[in-house]
Amino acid sequence: MRPRSSSSLGIPLFLSFFLLISTSTSHGLTASNTSLIRKTCKKCAQSDPNLSYNFCVTSLQAAPNSHCADNLRQLGKISIKLLGRNLTNSRSYIKELLKNKRMEPFVRSCLHDCFDLYSDAILTAKQAIQDYKAKRYDDSNIDVSSIMDAATTCEDGFKEKEGVVSPLTKRNSDTFQLSAISLSIINMIRSNDGSI
Ligand SMILES: *[C@@H]1O[C@H](CO)[C@@H](O)[C@H](O)[C@H]1NC(C)=O
Ligand SMILES: *[C@@H]1O[C@H](CO)[C@@H](O)[C@H](O)[C@H]1NC(C)=O
Ligand SMILES: *[C@@H]1O[C@H](CO)[C@@H](O)[C@H](O)[C@H]1NC(C)=O
Repeated sequence: MRPRSSSSLGIPLFLSFFLLISTSTSHGLTASNTSLIRKTCKKCAQSDPNLSYNFCVTSLQAAPNSHCADNLRQLGKISIKLLGRNLTNSRSYIKELLKNKRMEPFVRSCLHDCFDLYSDAILTAKQAIQDYKAKRYDDSNIDVSSIMDAATTCEDGFKEKEGVVSPLTKRNSDTFQLSAISLSIINMIRSNDGSI
């Protein structure tokens, strides 16, 4: 029976066609979202010579939900949240370090300062997200700038005594760079309609 044989051939054909379409569609979406991160990071690195393009792409791609962001405004929020989580992790790390009772008093007092700086920074990051959501970009800019300053202040504390090595150099540098990414995005959104 001819009609039957043609329909049994038709089903696999239809299925493979469907598979082909759905695979290419999901690839297309991922590519477009990845390209939002790349485009944004390219602009960030251009506007701030201290900001590494690779650090920016790696950080944003690893951030939860960043692949679902389909515009710069969403990516900005994701970047500030990423900064906030990073601050929280670093503060826990400082707390761990402070449990070592045999630490040199100078280093201990620096770490105490850094603990306070990071504690404030966590609150400031929460404020930065609120300001950002409410489109108070100037305020959000000020919030994130102060987080950036906190990282510098923390790191500089260790430099006041010769021969002391900061145990927080990488953390402070991460905080600095993540802040720079957020600032850069906030400023892009502030200066245009957020299109990229
Ligand atoms: C870039 O880094 C240099 C040297 O570390 C520093 O002096 C300068 O203030 C930084 N610029 C910005 C925009 O952060
Ligand atoms: C902070 O962010 C950087 C860059 O994404 C990452 O490499 C680092 O592991 C994070 N650190 C913490 C403590 O979350
Ligand atoms: C990617 O961006 C599109 C819009 O450009 C969005 O619909 C989609 O949910 C995003 N996420 C993924 C995983 O493709």
